[in-house]
Amino acid sequence: MFITLEGPEGSGKTTAVETAVKRLQELGYEIVRTREPGGTPIAEQIRNVILDKANTAMDPRTEALLYAASRRQHLVEKVWPAIKEGKIVICDRYLDSSLAYQGGARGLGVDNILNINLFATENTWPDLTLLFDLDPKIGLERINKNANREVNRLDLEKLEFHNAVRNTFLQLAKRYPERFVIIDASKSQEEVAKATLDAILNRLCK
Ligand code: TYD
Repeated sequence: MFITLEGPEGSGKTTAVETAVKRLQELGYEIVRTREPGGTPIAEQIRNVILDKANTAMDPRTEALLYAASRRQHLVEKVWPAIKEGKIVICDRYLDSSLAYQGGARGLGVDNILNINLFATENTWPDLTLLFDLDPKIGLERINKNANREVNRLDLEKLEFHNAVRNTFLQLAKRYPERFVIIDASKSQEEVAKATLDAILNRLCK
């Protein structure tokens, strides 16, 4: 089982899934928590290049290719082996982030980005994608309040960019209704955590 967590900045996806992970472990499931870009040493090195605030000259296609390269390495070294061992992999961000950020917001085109990602992932789709949907204005306010969170190159984009990210995610949820579950991330932490656990348990019971 391969589960991905998606959403705009500050949507609280990482916190929301913590309760679900604990409960699933109590139920006896083996969980691998990971994130993109990164998750393995090579992929983390690529992450540093992508997110470095000093890299203002990075071309949008270079950015898209680097995300796809990091994704590939992460699949090979971490995700595929864990799935083969029967574990549940829960990954913060995956291919839908590339479709929304590079395809939608950067304007490279969702289908162009899909093509390079189908090559990179050899058509590895998540079984379940939880979309933590939130108005980017609220998300960015949350980030700015959190002094511990490091601000990256993409966080610095204008609100318009983040609105385009959100809209593309919502379009993707319509395009792939069989794997997407939308979670209203504007609700309380408890409600969001419960919706997250319910969505995963529902999928596991299918
Ligand atoms: P990160 O600090 O992990 O952000 P978050 O906590 O919001 O997940 O940084 C990842 C950034 O990279 C985030 O701004 C989203 C962006 N991103 C893309 O633009 N394309 C992608 O394919 C992925 C995986 C992430």
